[in-house]
Amino acid sequence: MDILLLNGPNLNMLGMREPDQYGTQTLDDITGHLSALARDAGFTLAHHQDNSEVGLIDKIHAASKNGTKYIIINPAAFTHTSVALRDAILAVGIVFTEVHLSNVYKREEFRQQSYFSDIAQGVISGFGAQGYEFALEAAFKHIQSN
Ligand code: DQA
Repeated sequence: MDILLLNGPNLNMLGMREPDQYGTQTLDDITGHLSALARDAGFTLAHHQDNSEVGLIDKIHAASKNGTKYIIINPAAFTHTSVALRDAILAVGIVFTEVHLSNVYKREEFRQQSYFSDIAQGVISGFGAQGYEFALEAAFKHIQSN
């Protein structure tokens, strides 16, 4: 797979989880649309959502062995807590975009601390599900030019 899309804890609840914050689309709606966009552009996209750090870290490690060229990750609450997830991405050295559905800078102060922003190619926050589309565009461009 060219691109790996990772979503962290509680994002399996999209659609019913705080819709004012995260919108009404389900994760299946979002990933289905992104897979179609990737396919139309001639890329392959794999998706994995996990409520545990272990599951996400294992996928990142596997990405270093299966030819993944780019990672799009919404680490969800792990954004603000997980040195282990940060270290996993640093270990594999795959370029990535950090995505948040909500604008974390408009919210509680603890959400403004990220263990990923300083090592990401870029950060997209506050555009809802459209943020993943922007990240996908960045992934296409990165893969084409590398
Ligand atoms: C989130 C923002 C995080 O602070 C929160 O813990 C999430 C979702 C977002 O997509 O806006 O679970 O990453």
